[in-house]
Amino acid sequence: MLAPEHLPNINLIDILKNRRQRLGDRIDFPAILWAGSASPRNFSANTFPFRASSHFLYFTGLPIPHAAIHLQAGKLTLFVEDPHPSSTLWYGQRPNREELAAQIGADAAYPLSELPQYTPGAATIAVQDAATWTQQTQICDRYILPQIPPQGIDLELAQAIVEIRLTHDEGALVELRKAATVSIQAHLAGMKAVRIAQWEAQVRAAIEAVIIAQNMTTAYPSIVTVHGEILHNDSYGRQIQPGDLLLADVGAESNLGWAADITRTYPVSGQFSPTQRDIYDIVLAAHDACIAAVKPGVEYEDIHLLACRILAEGLVDLGILRGQPEELVEKDVHALFFPHGIGHLLGLDVHDMEDLGDLSGYEPGRSRSSRFGLGYLRLNRVLRPGMLVTIEPGFYQIPAILHSAREQYQYLVDWERLAQFRDVRGIRIEDDVLVTATGHEVLTQDLPTKTSDLEELVNSGGF
Ligand code: GLY
Ligand code: MN
Repeated sequence: MLAPEHLPNINLIDILKNRRQRLGDRIDFPAILWAGSASPRNFSANTFPFRASSHFLYFTGLPIPHAAIHLQAGKLTLFVEDPHPSSTLWYGQRPNREELAAQIGADAAYPLSELPQYTPGAATIAVQDAATWTQQTQICDRYILPQIPPQGIDLELAQAIVEIRLTHDEGALVELRKAATVSIQAHLAGMKAVRIAQWEAQVRAAIEAVIIAQNMTTAYPSIVTVHGEILHNDSYGRQIQPGDLLLADVGAESNLGWAADITRTYPVSGQFSPTQRDIYDIVLAAHDACIAAVKPGVEYEDIHLLACRILAEGLVDLGILRGQPEELVEKDVHALFFPHGIGHLLGLDVHDMEDLGDLSGYEPGRSRSSRFGLGYLRLNRVLRPGMLVTIEPGFYQIPAILHSAREQYQYLVDWERLAQFRDVRGIRIEDDVLVTATGHEVLTQDLPTKTSDLEELVNSGGF
């Protein structure tokens, strides 16, 4: 378990009450937020693990399945049933309504059956699981589905919550630091396991074991693969071959639901090949320059474009691209190798508040670009102190993209030169960067990024 120095003594109830008050200061109508329920896996008693809605968690600090909260003028009323007597047989003694209310500092608590009296005039946000949004739709008597953008007072509530959750308070930062600390330890375990691992699954097991041993969970499905070009690779069944690079994108989620999101890429045999090193160092240069640029007042899109420019410059220097880096970026040529955005908001969700679409990531009045090199940018805001963002440049050789681009980019890409880099399928380097009053703090900086450090760590693993 985390050492006591990682567990500062903060009063969670004070923090929760402050969040409730800040919401109350922004809206003049009540809000009802549902926690959600565990979705059935293959039959109703065998469920996927329960993860409460992040908006509910933000104001309660406790995942209470099937519960709802009513928020008005800073006051919180909890609606939840007492545990059914028969549940003791299967789940032991669980806290009753009054005990839960005390744990979260509720101002009042009633059975869930009384909730419909409170819904007229109240705003809400759709929860992701179907059972809950169906219930929300019935009780509120209007369509409330995750697929439908919020309207009317629901939109006003979503905008108010975005404003509050965009920047993190001390309570959130304690949890985010815990998640980062455990994730760093987890990645180190992966680096030390890779030389003796034969399969991707074994490296994943080494990484996730550290997270599970802290009684934490992963914040999203881990990506642990020798095919890093498959951006959200979700299988772990490949054999690790000498000369492969392994990409591990894994983050822990703290007990209160706060996420880390870290990616490292390292050579499974303990040494980067010259071609792997060349490309890695370009990605690292982009990573370092982008982190250095993080400070209040900076446009996140400009940080993305900085990464694009550095990648294009590096690829021109290596002879893979031909032309002026600025022009190559304007033509989106860099995006053949770096198709995604430089990162995203991080908080209770790994892509924080992405359930609200671009309401969270995009400044009001802005929308996604139709450009290939900008369309996947998840965050397009001016940075403010207290925001936590990821910086995650990458280089990928994605067969489907390169195949279809070959004709259009016949001259801007030196395809023969590119073929010499065939042992570089996918590289990403990702850190979690807090915007501070004067600049930034990298919450994940204790995990090395330099090739020599990564080689040393891999080689320190057992044989
Ligand atoms: N860690 C996965 C992602 O950022 O999409
Ligand atoms: Mn990420």
